[in-house]
Amino acid sequence: MTSFAARMPKVELHLHIEGTLEPELMFELAARNGVTLPYASVEALRAAYDFGNLQDFLDLYYQGAAVLLKEQDFFDLAWAYFSRVHQDNVEHAELFFDPQTHTERGVAMGTVIEGLAAACTKAHEELGISSALILCFLRHLDGAAAVKTLTDAMPFREHFIGVGLDSAEVGNPPEGFRDAFELAGAEGLHRVAHAGEEGPPAYIWGALDALHVERVDHGVRCLEDEALVARLSRERIPLTVCPLSNVKLRVFDTLADHNLTALLEAGLCATVNSDDPAYFGGYMNDNFVQCQQALGLSDAQLRLLADNAIAASFASEARKAELRASLASVR
Ligand code: HPA
Ligand code: ZN
Repeated sequence: MTSFAARMPKVELHLHIEGTLEPELMFELAARNGVTLPYASVEALRAAYDFGNLQDFLDLYYQGAAVLLKEQDFFDLAWAYFSRVHQDNVEHAELFFDPQTHTERGVAMGTVIEGLAAACTKAHEELGISSALILCFLRHLDGAAAVKTLTDAMPFREHFIGVGLDSAEVGNPPEGFRDAFELAGAEGLHRVAHAGEEGPPAYIWGALDALHVERVDHGVRCLEDEALVARLSRERIPLTVCPLSNVKLRVFDTLADHNLTALLEAGLCATVNSDDPAYFGGYMNDNFVQCQQALGLSDAQLRLLADNAIAASFASEARKAELRASLASVR
């Protein structure tokens, strides 16, 4: 019988859809679209997935995204993700997408969003997975570009529920994106941001105070700042932690060194997520099962992590009740 960690119903809140592009699909789309990849084979590409830090990964991630050109490509990408995580018992997922990675290459905003949204609809109809899209701004580009991106996305407002902030963290603090996040708030969008992955606790304070985020993506460096931990705990600000990502990008040396247990013990609403599973060696079950083994998590701790993710999600109260019932039904 499979482990409880594997069987458990799951909610994924930190997932970059471009980071689910498996080498096989990358080559297939490259061939379909006449794009030349700088790798001879799937194996050669996989062998390049050895990262010293976040920027090493981002260089390959943006290069890979160049095969995504048509609405069908975005649909195929997201449908592959939903089909894959259905096997991991994911029942609800909130997907990040990076429009600027595509619009900068001449792909229309509608092509990106409508392709992804169609896959979300099919996932609900055929797999029973509820989902939502979160538009992320690239922080290596500036705040004005973020405002323009959100403005350009407004004709497709019905298809996304929030905004986020990703890409190279160090040197690109949250405060530069105040205007874009204020505009998002005025439009009734949810707000989240990557902070405290490689960057210092000050970036988490900045995400809270300047961007008014409801969740912090990663946030693992919060433990360096006691006052910050007290605030995150008091305000019940969830952290979307990505254990395998953190090891691949050398935030922690090994999974056994990860601070996930310490985050839970500090009373924080920590969750487990896969980030960029095609690049980091695992989807949701790989993250949960490997954490369970490396950190010796109990079934009660696994259940707490799953329950935290339901609470932290932007699903409706009715959907959260369904997700909680599903979690309670699995032993
Ligand atoms: N961090 C920052 N930006 C990203 C990541 C990440 O882990 N994945 C995709 N874009
Ligand atoms: Zn991320």
